[in-house]
Amino acid sequence: MKEQHSSRRNFIKLLAASTAGVAAGTHSLAAPSNASLIVLSKRKTVAANDNINIALIGAGGMGVQDTITALLVPGTKLVAVCDLYDGRLVDARNKWGKDLFTTRSYKEVLNRKDVDAVIVATPDHWHQQISIDAMRAGKHVYCEKPMVHSILEGPAVIKAQSETGKVFQVGSQGVSSLGNEKAKTLLKEGAIGALNYAEGFWARHSPTGAWQYPIPADASPTTVDWESFISNTTRRPFDATRFFRWRNYRDYGTGMSGDLFVHLFSSLHFITNSFGPEKIYAAGGLRYWKDGREVPDVLLGTFDYPQSAAHPEFNLSLRCNFVDGTSGTTYLKLVGSEGSMDITWDTVTLKRNKQTSSDDPFYIEQMKKAGTPVSGRKKILAPTEYTFAAEEGYLGGPYDHFANFFNAIRSNTKAVEDAVFGYRAAAPALLCNDSFNQDTAIRWNPEKMSLIKK
Ligand SMILES: NC(=O)c1ccc[n+]([C@@H]2O[C@H](COP(=O)([O-])OP(=O)(O)OC[C@H]3O[C@@H](n4cnc5c(N)ncnc54)[C@H](O)[C@@H]3O)[C@@H](O)[C@H]2O)c1
Repeated sequence: MKEQHSSRRNFIKLLAASTAGVAAGTHSLAAPSNASLIVLSKRKTVAANDNINIALIGAGGMGVQDTITALLVPGTKLVAVCDLYDGRLVDARNKWGKDLFTTRSYKEVLNRKDVDAVIVATPDHWHQQISIDAMRAGKHVYCEKPMVHSILEGPAVIKAQSETGKVFQVGSQGVSSLGNEKAKTLLKEGAIGALNYAEGFWARHSPTGAWQYPIPADASPTTVDWESFISNTTRRPFDATRFFRWRNYRDYGTGMSGDLFVHLFSSLHFITNSFGPEKIYAAGGLRYWKDGREVPDVLLGTFDYPQSAAHPEFNLSLRCNFVDGTSGTTYLKLVGSEGSMDITWDTVTLKRNKQTSSDDPFYIEQMKKAGTPVSGRKKILAPTEYTFAAEEGYLGGPYDHFANFFNAIRSNTKAVEDAVFGYRAAAPALLCNDSFNQDTAIRWNPEKMSLIKK
């Protein structure tokens, strides 16, 4: 907290320097009146050493996207793909070559000597088991968010990471973005004063946005390995809707909070160096998408962050609405005593408080005592709004996140979003669901990563 205060003066100096740059024409984009735009620099690409051979486990929407991104990083090669639906394996061979090794069994992938690292992009209820099995089989793991499906599953992943020494990275890619990095620096420099509040929301209104994905015409117990899919959860007869729209069902998915809030926790914790909240309470309901789903389509979460060595006490408010007529999405806003930041992966918009004058006697007296007496003369004001934007050609947070993962493997260091970080981001998201389902506030010790009994 002290750090934020003491560095505020540095920030004002830095701001003066960047504004001078804009005025001198060193930035190519024109600044709107009373606002400045500052271009964030691209990260250098990873140096190519030996190839890192990767395999994909769970070749659906995100797994394919992750693999495309991972293969953009120099020195990577795809050697195997696993999925429980045959159609995805056919698609993988069509995309990446007829000779690609494909299988329904992730264990066959882990048995291969030529696989260095796996991407785990299955539904959430398989993240823990496959990640642990992979690390124990000697593979590095990039596991999609949320790291685990239930609050009790986290410690075993942390244990496997520390016992095997393998690199483990969770896939909330915003954490590696230029936008998140800039926000972290600005907060440390005191750009918004002392943090006291943060908020984030996701707004959608479309069938696919609300997880009503198309179900392939050939889906059947022959083309889908249903028995493996449900082998770690409730036994049920084959159900294509549950398999392809797994996010709507609690046996496999983690609802709006595990799917979306977790991104905001990851970014927030990275920017503030926070371990997480100590109190979590949720509200919401199923208002519109009454298609048999077991999770709300409107969810609000409130999270109380205790004071820590890294930050003052603050509150976080998150919401997600799948029936949102405004259909706008804002990522994350941090609010402090002197301003606010709107943060995306590519931009940070910083708004500073306007300096106000007042004839209030109490205010005048306090200013006098502080050694800055109020004078009647008008002042020249600095801009109140600055937009920091990534340079054109920036490859984005997803690329940087994979580059960080492969760098950690090459340099034998920890990944930015390792199992401890991943669990601290997943925990409040999972507990938000628990709060909603149990209709009660939940207390959590973010430092020790343990539930506090009432
Ligand atoms: N980081 C992000 O921005 C982001 C975005 C979307 C999804 N995700 C995450 O990625 C994961 C996958 O989501 P999706 O949208 O790609 O879902 P999806 O349904 O499109 O893909 C999941 C795939 O996993 C396969 N699968 C299921 N169980 C398996 C198992 N035991 N072994 C092997 N394959 C199995 C399914 O057949 C399917 O092809 C989820 O955890 C989700 O939260 C992350």
